[in-house]
Amino acid sequence: MSDTFDIKNVFEQTKELYGNLIQSVDFNDTYLRYSLIWVAFNPIFWNIVARLEYNTHFLTKIAGSAKAGCYTLAVIIFTLGIGRDHMFNLALQNQETSPFLQIDILQKVGYTAIVIGQILVLSSMYQLGITGTYLGDYFGILMKDRVTSFPFNVSNNPMYQGSTLSFLGISLIKAKPAGLIVALAVQFMYDIALQFEEPFTAKIYANRDKLENEKKNL
Ligand SMILES: *[C@@H]1O[C@H](CO)[C@@H](O)[C@H](O)[C@H]1NC(C)=O
Repeated sequence: MSDTFDIKNVFEQTKELYGNLIQSVDFNDTYLRYSLIWVAFNPIFWNIVARLEYNTHFLTKIAGSAKAGCYTLAVIIFTLGIGRDHMFNLALQNQETSPFLQIDILQKVGYTAIVIGQILVLSSMYQLGITGTYLGDYFGILMKDRVTSFPFNVSNNPMYQGSTLSFLGISLIKAKPAGLIVALAVQFMYDIALQFEEPFTAKIYANRDKLENEKKNL
């Protein structure tokens, strides 16, 4: 047996690769820090605002209707997303390019991740519409039925998974280890956000179903 297939060897090489990638990240760069803060801020912001809306209807009151309130929040969240993406691109410009990421297979993985990511994001937006995508349930705007067709038959959270894949893909095609850190942060924040969003959405829909059943029984 040759040494190259030695598991310990593989482990050492992997460790060296990770060490190498991490070392080429400039964590002191202001743009990278802003990028990470922005990534963290967005889901925290929309969860707080959506809960406030649910409890006080403040956006509905300001905008004049639930729909107008939800569209207002949609524009704000969308704009925050563009800001975050712009900061991410600025951050990557300042960061080192890694030869370890500039290999053919990873470039292909990168392009594939971007394409799959965009398909997931755009198709779920198409299926859910604006209010379904942007927290309409907190405004009392509910979908008639849970969407189960594509992309929801291949992903539980196509919007989040698609967004994470896009960050991953861009980082790979630009061969920027720092981008991978941001992509991990995106994934981490969405995981946390889902811990809050999924049970809350389930509760809102359960309440609706309970009310409808009570009406039927009257
Ligand atoms: C998901 O649904 C699409 C059509 O909406 C279908 O073409 C595809 O095969 C389905 N995928 C799975 C894994 O069920």
